[in-house]
Formats: sequence, structure tokens, C-alpha cells
Amino acid sequence: MKLISTAIDRIHALKKQRSAVILAHYYEEGQVQDIADFIGDSLALAQFGQKSKAPVLLMAGVLFMGESAKLLSPEKTVLVPDLKAGCSLVDHSPYDKYLEWRRKHPEAICVSYVNSSAAVKSITDITCTSSNAEQILDAIPKNRPILFGPDRNLGAYLMKKTGREMTLWPGACEVHVLFSARKLFELKIEHPEALVLAHPECLEEVLQYADVIGSTSKILSEVQSSKKSKFIVATEDGIFHQMKKLRPDADFFQAPAEGSCACNQCPYMKLNSLEKIANALENLSPEVLVDPTLSEKAQLPLQRMMDVMAKKDISWPKRFWQ
Ligand code: 13P
Ligand code: SF4
Repeated sequence: MKLISTAIDRIHALKKQRSAVILAHYYEEGQVQDIADFIGDSLALAQFGQKSKAPVLLMAGVLFMGESAKLLSPEKTVLVPDLKAGCSLVDHSPYDKYLEWRRKHPEAICVSYVNSSAAVKSITDITCTSSNAEQILDAIPKNRPILFGPDRNLGAYLMKKTGREMTLWPGACEVHVLFSARKLFELKIEHPEALVLAHPECLEEVLQYADVIGSTSKILSEVQSSKKSKFIVATEDGIFHQMKKLRPDADFFQAPAEGSCACNQCPYMKLNSLEKIANALENLSPEVLVDPTLSEKAQLPLQRMMDVMAKKDISWPKRFWQ
């Protein structure tokens, strides 16, 4: 307890000293969320980072979130508490293979989930998040084929939802694919009055049992506004921290994984700690730096996504030339 309050005191003092703001994703530990100036899903974190006037952004999330913040605000110092906080979708989409895929479909528009590396973004036409993917697809001219990566589960869900054909990259989130459809079905039978909420990174066989499918922020707003008081949740367990604050009256059950592992925790998000946050603010390190040869190209698909959100006209490349 003493260690926690010392780390919190250090964070408050250093934040002032560095004129920094702390951004945290909903999958972080509760104590990390509690010291943040802003908590959000991937889109909201990117938007907040871009609008913020603070010269230093500390991203308590995973590396691709820090990279997006840096690409959208190159003049700011962006810190992540642990550079090893990766993402399986990034690992499942190596640049060389993604480039080969793009080259096979030069006439297509390539949409990449923000859960991708800066290198993959540099060969992407537009990014999306789970909260704006439908809006992004809608902005793409109907006569253009679409490549969607690196999450095939989000892609398959979007194809079903929008009726738009897409060629999918075969990546997946190692955390969300572990939820078990069979066990979720059993839990639903046990709690027939519960509302089932799921993130679209889950497998289709799990999503078939969900009443609501959406990003972390959509799942949270559903909990806040629902008349139900029991929820079964198929996403990472950090989200329960805000759920319990929003609905202290409600009961929450995490959808079970196959087997008895604690695998519905994202090991990368959980690498961040109060101690590492304090150290990062003190040392202004680890800093997120994007290879300067990539940054202009990688910034473009993120900015196109922001422009779609702002309802601006988008100019699409005719072909992929690289
Ligand atoms: P959200 O954009 O819904 O917060 O999702 C981010 C993520 O990494 C889900 O695994
Ligand atoms: Fe990546 Fe999955 Fe972790 Fe989200 S939960 S950061 S998609 S590994």
C-alpha cells in the first residue's frame, strides 16, 4: 500500500514537472486507470492525444497506441511505460508479407486496424478502429475492392454487418480468440436474464451469442444505459474496473475461456505499472520514436481516418505503386 501511494505521489509531482498528460486504455490495471487524465478506447486515445496541448503524452496502453499518438503529433514527446507492450495482431502482420499481399491487389483500398505496426500503416490507405470501422468502410467508393487486416475476426464481423466483400488478412488477437463459445452458451443458460456483450475481435462462434458487439467504449456505454443488471462480457478483464464504477448495482461475469487459464487478460496491457509510469515520467524514457523514413507515409492513413470522422472529403489513391 505504501509503495502504491509513493508511486502515485511521484506520478503527480512528475506530471506537473513535465507538463505531461497520462492516457490509459480500459484494459489497464484499475490503479493505472485511476491515475490517468483520460481513459478511452483506441480511437478516443488517438483523438485526445492529437488535440492535447501537453508537450508530453504518456500512453498507458500498448506500443501501437503510442505510435499512433506520435504519428498524429510528431512534435510531442510520447512515452510508453514498457516498450515490450506489443500486440499479437502486430506480430501476426509482418511488413514484408503484408507488402506482398498489397502488391497482389494493387487496385484495392487497404484498410488496416490501428492494431498494426507503423511499418504496416506506411503501406495502408486508411486505418480504422473497432468503434469507427463501419463508418470508414462506408466512406470507401463502392467500386473499389477492399483489403482488410490484420484482424480476420473483426473483418469477418464487418463483412457480415455491412454486406461488403473484403479480402481478409489472417491475423487474430491471442486474447479474444480464447473465449469459448460452448462455455459462453452454458453461462447464458445459467443467467438467461443477462445481456451478453462482446468485442468484435472474438471468434464468430462466440459473437453469435452476443446481444451487443462493439468496441470497449461501446460496451461500456451499453452497460451504463442498459436497464439490465446482469452482464456477461467477452473482452479483456481490465474493462470491469470502469463497469463496476458505472454500475455498482450490477453483476458482471467474464465469458470463460476454453481450459482454465487466466488467458482473457492481455499480457501486453498488463506490463504497465505505476512504478514504470513514474520512472518513464522521471527519465522521459522509454520514448516512442517512429523511423523517420516511415513516419510521413504511416501518418497518412491515420489522418485519413480522422478526416472521415470529421466528415471531410477524402482523396483515394488510384493504385498501389510500391
Ligand atoms: P478498442 O479500440 O475497442 O478499445 O480495442 C482495442 C483493443 O486492443 C482490443 O483488443
Ligand atoms: Fe492486442 Fe489483443 Fe492485447 Fe488488444 S487485447 S492489445 S488486440 S493482444
